Amino acid sequence: MLDTTTPLVEMTDISISFGGIRAVDHASISLHRGEVVGLLGHNGAGKSTLIKILSGAYKRDSGDIRINGEAAAINNPRDAKAYGIETVYQQLAVADNVDAAANLFLGREMITPLGTLDDAAMESRAREVMGRLNPNFRRFKEPVKALSGGQRQSVAIARAILFDARILIMDEPTASLGPQETAQVGELIKQLKSEGIGIFLISHDIHDVFDLADRVVVMKNGKVVGEAKTSDVTKDEVLGMIIMGKVPPGAKPGPGAIAI
Ligand SMILES: Nc1ncnc2c1ncn2[C@@H]1O[C@H](COP(=O)(O)OP(=O)(O)OP(=O)(O)O)[C@@H](O)[C@H]1O
Ligand SMILES: [Mg+2]
Repeated sequence: MLDTTTPLVEMTDISISFGGIRAVDHASISLHRGEVVGLLGHNGAGKSTLIKILSGAYKRDSGDIRINGEAAAINNPRDAKAYGIETVYQQLAVADNVDAAANLFLGREMITPLGTLDDAAMESRAREVMGRLNPNFRRFKEPVKALSGGQRQSVAIARAILFDARILIMDEPTASLGPQETAQVGELIKQLKSEGIGIFLISHDIHDVFDLADRVVVMKNGKVVGEAKTSDVTKDEVLGMIIMGKVPPGAKPGPGAIAI
């Protein structure tokens, strides 16, 4: 039975090595409906690798993935999409020369009964989804290259949620954006959260995620240092987890916590 306490995502004891490097080492992480979980850690900590296992880009060596409480077979990106898992990367994967609607439906175009592209249906669906995310967006007919970084990022996010994503992975979504555009993406995240979508928000910068996240999970050298509700810890304490692997009283230690 599905209930609100069953996590949307439960990754348990996940490991993967590349050659001799344990990129992810017995990591466990969970996500609930309408929750934003910040995944933090220095460069090379294993954040992207862990979530690439969830998005089907990498195959884990060991560990379990459960979606809505049931064992999930995720072996490639198509499997992940079938579970409602979508990813938005820092590198904005948008096609510059076409408009927002065309970007949203790239590779999964809507077709009329006669077999032609259903431009009217695609534009109307694009307006609906973009309107939900960013009500001020009006520039549907312009090529995406004419848009601001924040507007382009909202197109990338709309593309990800268009096909009923329940689980959204955002890997450094604001790394190439200015402060105003970063704030705009923050508003998008709040909107998605209010719709019950669970979000993994990945960053090596605590300032990007602390205010948006309900919970943070810190990784270091492939291991989970610890996790905490953001209301139970300070930014400085989370910095201590990221830099030293030191877990404060308000956090739950993981396998990567240093003994104090
Ligand atoms: N495809 C790969 N082949 C070999 N090594 C890899 C591969 N992907 C990741 N690694 C290694 O795994 C480790 C974790 O990398 P990962 O990209 O997950 O870190 P990250 O926490 O996302 O860092 P960043 O903040 O820089 O994005 C690193 O040592 C990296 O070099
Ligand atoms: Mg990364």
